[in-house]
Amino acid sequence: MVDYRALFRLDGRTALVVGAGSGIGAASAEALAAFGAKIIAADVDEPAARRTADSIRAAGGSAEPERLDVRSTEDVRRVLDRHGTPDALVSTPGINVRKRIADVTDEEFDRVIDVNLKGTFRLAREVGKRMAERGSGSIVAFSSIRSQVVEPGQGVYAATKAGIVQLLRALAAELGPRGVRANAIAPGVVETPLTAPIKSKPEWYKAYADRNVLRRWARPEEMATTVVFLCSDASSYVTGACIFVDGGWTATDGRFDPPL
Ligand SMILES: NC(=O)c1ccc[n+]([C@@H]2O[C@H](COP(=O)([O-])OP(=O)(O)OC[C@H]3O[C@@H](n4cnc5c(N)ncnc54)[C@H](O)[C@@H]3O)[C@@H](O)[C@H]2O)c1
Repeated sequence: MVDYRALFRLDGRTALVVGAGSGIGAASAEALAAFGAKIIAADVDEPAARRTADSIRAAGGSAEPERLDVRSTEDVRRVLDRHGTPDALVSTPGINVRKRIADVTDEEFDRVIDVNLKGTFRLAREVGKRMAERGSGSIVAFSSIRSQVVEPGQGVYAATKAGIVQLLRALAAELGPRGVRANAIAPGVVETPLTAPIKSKPEWYKAYADRNVLRRWARPEEMATTVVFLCSDASSYVTGACIFVDGGWTATDGRFDPPL
């Protein structure tokens, strides 16, 4: 019989987790380590990367911190040259400038694109090339429900999150024949430092909780378990997908519960 439990194990594998210093990236690094992976915990915030690597090691796992800015191709290449080609790449860095499109400056547009879309591109290109040369690998990048549904003030962010899905689909098509899988994860609302400003406004926080069918926000570990699935052989036939981990947000229009 197939050893199904072994399919989720990551012993002997290396995972480069970028954005590992906070939120979903930190939880992903911890979860991957719990399944046996050696973690390269990378973040532009080096002390934060170090904290995640320390917490993994304290729990008996294996992790090394790295400073990596996704706005720099040189940084990406330096980390890959130092640590070799990882078996899995998880890319989480994302920033948002909440403004109506009419008010977004060229500088703000470029700033969000450079981290969210071009940052994912730089990582996926450099890591994907090397994984393809080796003939194996799994690439996971974070999109959002905003790739599909929007609200005022999310235009540029939403465009980057839709772009990430298409980028990963193209990567899946190009690298599939060479043994590399590429998938996106689209979270709903997750309690992390990124969304802390929303939590501080109770009406806004509750509106988002009520918008999904589970009537609550997600915890970062509820994203990390999907990351583990996509990085492991348990998902060996999953590529070019965008998995919505959104508590049913995009399944419903959320306007009204009719009397039944
Ligand atoms: N939290 C949510 O509700 C939510 C919802 C949908 C999608 N997402 C997406 O999930 C991803 C992770 O979100 P999060 O909530 O964990 O965010 P977060 O802000 O808690 O963590 C992001 C991490 O990325 C790092 N980072 C930022 N710029 C970087 C750069 N240039 N180079 C390297 N690292 C950089 C930050 O230092 C931070 O450690 C993002 O792409 C976000 O858009 C989050």
